[in-house]
Amino acid sequence: MNEHDSLLVLFLVSGILLAAIFYFLYRSTLNAAADSEGLKAPLKKRFITMLVMAVFFIAALAVTLPKSPYFSYADQAPSKVIHVGARQFFFIMSNKEIDPENPSGETDIEIPKDQVVEFRVTSFDVTHGFGIYNDKAELVTQTQSMPGYVNILRWKFAEPGKYSILCLEYCGSGHQVMQSSFTVK
Ligand code: CUA
Repeated sequence: MNEHDSLLVLFLVSGILLAAIFYFLYRSTLNAAADSEGLKAPLKKRFITMLVMAVFFIAALAVTLPKSPYFSYADQAPSKVIHVGARQFFFIMSNKEIDPENPSGETDIEIPKDQVVEFRVTSFDVTHGFGIYNDKAELVTQTQSMPGYVNILRWKFAEPGKYSILCLEYCGSGHQVMQSSFTVK
């Protein structure tokens, strides 16, 4: 089972479980007067329902939180750091730190294959999205590019080729043309 299939199964199982909980709640309110002992039985049912939901959500958080991109390759030193500054409506990328007063970058960024690289992503105006896509237009990884913050995104590119960067946050009239690219070798 690949990653997409397991995610699909996770969503399906969560959906079925949620539907079952709602159905159980719906059924439990139908004949409350006929089979309950006053308030005691409904309260017990509610407690059990809440307990099942709490266990399910804690388990889901425990499985999914460690996979957050914020923890990716946290224990490995990056072999290369790329600085990214977003602006309406383009991305500035550089191998050196970008001066916010006079931002400039390079257009021929190259990234080594199979090595951890670090993107330090910020914005010089409004909030943008920094989404990295492979040559099949599949989203590989992403972070937000926010004014006043530097978001760290670490990734290891296994496939060589040209990668595109698209803005993933609506940022104004030129949002849809905001893009850049780099090469993995
Ligand atoms: Cu920048 Cu949308």
